[in-house]
Amino acid sequence: MPKLSIDGQEYEVAAGRTILQAIDDLGLLMNGVDVPHYCWHPHLSIDGSCRLCQVEVEGIPKLQIACNTPVKDGMVVHTTTDRVKRAREGVMELLLINHPLDCPICDQAGECKLQDYAYDYGVPHARTQEPRRAAKKGVELGPTIMFDQERCILCRRCVRFCREVPETGEIGVFDRGDRSVIETLPGMPLDNPYSMNVADICPVGALTTKDFRFKIRVWFLEDVKGVCTGCANGCNVFLGVANNKVYRYVPRRNDAVNQTWMCDAGRMSYKQIGSEARLKLAFVRGANGLLEPASTSAAISVAAARLRRVIDAKGPGVVAAVASAHATNEDLYTLRRLLEALGTETSGVAVPLGAHDDLLVKAEKVANAAGARALGFGDAQAVVDRVRGGGVDALIVLGHDLLDPGYAGDPSVLSHLDTVIVLDTHRSELERVAHVLLPVRHAAEKAGTLTNHSGRAQRIQPAVEPAWEASADGEILARLGAALGLTGFDGKWDVRSVSRELGALPGFAGADLAGVGDLGRPLSSGSPAGALR
Ligand code: SF4
Ligand code: SF4
Ligand code: FES
Repeated sequence: MPKLSIDGQEYEVAAGRTILQAIDDLGLLMNGVDVPHYCWHPHLSIDGSCRLCQVEVEGIPKLQIACNTPVKDGMVVHTTTDRVKRAREGVMELLLINHPLDCPICDQAGECKLQDYAYDYGVPHARTQEPRRAAKKGVELGPTIMFDQERCILCRRCVRFCREVPETGEIGVFDRGDRSVIETLPGMPLDNPYSMNVADICPVGALTTKDFRFKIRVWFLEDVKGVCTGCANGCNVFLGVANNKVYRYVPRRNDAVNQTWMCDAGRMSYKQIGSEARLKLAFVRGANGLLEPASTSAAISVAAARLRRVIDAKGPGVVAAVASAHATNEDLYTLRRLLEALGTETSGVAVPLGAHDDLLVKAEKVANAAGARALGFGDAQAVVDRVRGGGVDALIVLGHDLLDPGYAGDPSVLSHLDTVIVLDTHRSELERVAHVLLPVRHAAEKAGTLTNHSGRAQRIQPAVEPAWEASADGEILARLGAALGLTGFDGKWDVRSVSRELGALPGFAGADLAGVGDLGRPLSSGSPAGALR
């Protein structure tokens, strides 16, 4: 482990790292040791082209670029000397010669590294009189990204990203010297499942997403830490929130889960939060056979009465439940407790499957299948088989994943049941057979933990508040337990206490809301049972 000194402080770092990597590994980069950088990115190859990261290394006459200078034992590095500052000012002056002065209408303003570093190292007056270089503006690079060529500072992050991460290589540098420009290759639009990451890594406003540009100025957004629920990878995200609305997801760095990336489908899944298809009212099927609006309390009472009637007539064995792997560990733990209190063991979790890749996207299109398995939920197919075989009279369904072709497929499979109670975030075909429908909160609207495919528990927290009455699945289930008079369901459901109770179980030890921290924590049992199907 080589030792080096940075600005008078001694550190021990891993062998084989460059100065900038070592500073990043130590968690100091732009967090105590401010080495500005454009072309370097922690998860891309080293380019060494922008020259902004120059530092002074004792014993070497010329300034060195921190991103490509290997650490040597005993190295003494200075990042704040006058020489270093002058070099940064020189680089910034060159970069700003041709950069358009369109910050007021640039969508990157407020999160632009050119603005930030110009503030720190910009010179007050331009020494050139020649007109700025004109280039293309408002170019559509593909279905997701717009390009402003004038703003590009040629850091080549986007080029390396496309070559190294999705390995699609749509972007390249064309021409030479001061005529160099970024373009897509002829006949190759920027169109890959991770394309929108180029907007995150572009340090200036050259690359912006069609979806987010001009929606809102970023300084009005609050970044709430959360997790994408689009698949079992559980990529860490920031939810950009203003006016009780989520405007975007952007990836949040977690080297153990998603590095600094996320897929485009997951990124766009924020639209489900404010979707018109959200279930906004409770409904109860009336004597006329139609679903009629009801208060949540009234709907829970009807659900409890129907379950009680079925149990009194035939016993608890005819009650079954299908869990949603979108629900949190705390929600599912409450369902598990409810089923135990009712005295039934028939339950399973529905996990819809889809396309996957070798990068991030997992086949299981839900965030918490591993958590459901760790809590003892088997495959929902066994429940569907039992329903088909006539062994079930009352069914509690969380979410509409049961309608996946791999399970019931068609709601008519459930139409002969005496009682179907559905808790869901969105409206679905289950409305055709439900006797009680209850709206529940989306992952962006509640606290809890989700366990990703590798058995890592990660937390979510409420970023927005639904404009209608909706509770977490766990709270509704606890109220149902109370309405049924079941033991252990008499107090108010509180996600933090439930999480603590869960975190005391052997498999979930320490993986409660407080224990998982911002970057999650592997369950002590490691990866719970393998994929269901
Ligand atoms: S478009 Fe952005 S990321 Fe790509 S080279 Fe230019 S400045 Fe860098
Ligand atoms: S890979 Fe999965 S978890 Fe990650 S962003 Fe995409 S859908 Fe979301
Ligand atoms: S960040 Fe080191 S040369 Fe660009």
